[in-house]
Amino acid sequence: MSHLDLPLHRYVAFEGIEGAGKSTVVRRVAAALRDDAEVTVVREPGGTPTGERIRSILLDGETHLAPWAEALLFAAARAQLTAEVVAPALADGRWVLTDRSVYSSLAYQGGGRGLGVAEVRAVNEPGLRGVWPGVVVLLDVDVDVGIARQEVADRIGGEGAAFLSAAAATFRSIAAQEPDRFIVVDASGPVDDIVDVVLARLGATR
Ligand code: TYD
Repeated sequence: MSHLDLPLHRYVAFEGIEGAGKSTVVRRVAAALRDDAEVTVVREPGGTPTGERIRSILLDGETHLAPWAEALLFAAARAQLTAEVVAPALADGRWVLTDRSVYSSLAYQGGGRGLGVAEVRAVNEPGLRGVWPGVVVLLDVDVDVGIARQEVADRIGGEGAAFLSAAAATFRSIAAQEPDRFIVVDASGPVDDIVDVVLARLGATR
């Protein structure tokens, strides 16, 4: 099976700024899907031994990284995860739910760091070889609420409100440009409602 034949509608990314509640929603959606399907859950950056090592470089508060070094390290960790875990799981007929994806790079490095969405997309594409989330759930939350809910700020999450506002605005603008791929949910509502909305949309594409 070539990568382009993979069932990408089963590759579902959960996105949003810090404090949007992604991890809880991923866990709940995975549990519901597991009733009648095989599900692989991953997170970015990370999800492979190499990726976890790259993650510690990226998120450790002591590191100084030039913006393009940061963007390329995220892309490297993602290329490894895609080759080692995501593509094989999709080829096996599994759902793959991911806590963050290439869309975080478009929003944080493309928008937040100002590297440009098209430019960041271009450096990610070669490593992904068409393995791109078919569905993106954007958990939309106000930046102030997100920051207040954030438990521990890492090097990037601790950049402050202006940076996170730029990332949030970029998420929204990409969602508006790719309406068929995105499910935008108000993350301030009850988790049960968010999970129901997501499952209903995924059910329609199963
Ligand atoms: P993470 O540990 O996933 O925590 P949370 O999602 O709870 O914030 O955070 C990873 C951090 O890295 C987060 O601040 C977003 C950032 N990030 C990027 O800047 N670009 C990326 O491509 C990815 C995957 C994450």
